Amino acid sequence: MSEKRSIPKHVAIIMDGNGRWAKQRGKERHEGHIAGAEAVNAVVRGAAKAGVDYVTLYTFSTENWGRPEAEINAIMELFCYMVASRAEELAKEGVSVKIMGERTRFSEKVLSMIDQIESTTAEGKLLTLILAFNYSSRREMVFAAQELARRAVAGEIKVEDIDEQLFSDSLMTAGVPDPDLIIRTSGEYRLSNFLLWQASYSELYFPEVLWPDFSEEDFNRALDIYAGRERRFGLVTQDNVEK
Ligand code: FPP
Repeated sequence: MSEKRSIPKHVAIIMDGNGRWAKQRGKERHEGHIAGAEAVNAVVRGAAKAGVDYVTLYTFSTENWGRPEAEINAIMELFCYMVASRAEELAKEGVSVKIMGERTRFSEKVLSMIDQIESTTAEGKLLTLILAFNYSSRREMVFAAQELARRAVAGEIKVEDIDEQLFSDSLMTAGVPDPDLIIRTSGEYRLSNFLLWQASYSELYFPEVLWPDFSEEDFNRALDIYAGRERRFGLVTQDNVEK
């Protein structure tokens, strides 16, 4: 009898390669992002079918505000379009969408679309889709440190109470399990300020495929690769213990 394939509870993805995909086709960068939005749909489908509980997508980093204005506007427009066109469907499919990041610098329209997608899909129980949007892992950790310091000064906690669990609970990912698997497409091997605390024991996978070409099949391949990995969390395997 074949053993059951181990399925990650949480898959986090750095969707890289949209610009190169567009360049290879003589298109504008924003056309790469539009094509990338299709890959988002494929991953949501694949994750829901496989029984993954959480998918986190690195949609827009805090550093991305430094990109050309036209490209930033195109990503914001695309987000608004996805909310307008997909929110109801996602809700029906049982997908709950959460936006993770600083709620600063966004236009009123984007802020209202953030509220719209979160409220429309709030009841979803099948899969939680977290969009890291204006997100920076280092800033997230600094905010957590500030919050804990404030609470200590206010006498709500003692400095000695601050441990890994309390720190985790002060991050934007509070209540979400750490990612079991992090995928970065396009053959780049970096985490780029994404979930640095949470990635401590994540399995990493770097397929060469550019994000707009990442298909449901590619997602399933990533799950197979994950299932074949041995996770030791700093321990040793039983057959490698000194007698
Ligand atoms: C990185 O590729 C991609 C981004 C910064 C944007 C990601 C956005 C999407 C996939 C579409 C929007 C999705 C949602 C959910 C609204 P890059 O531009 O850095 O590619 P390059 O390294 O080839 O230039």
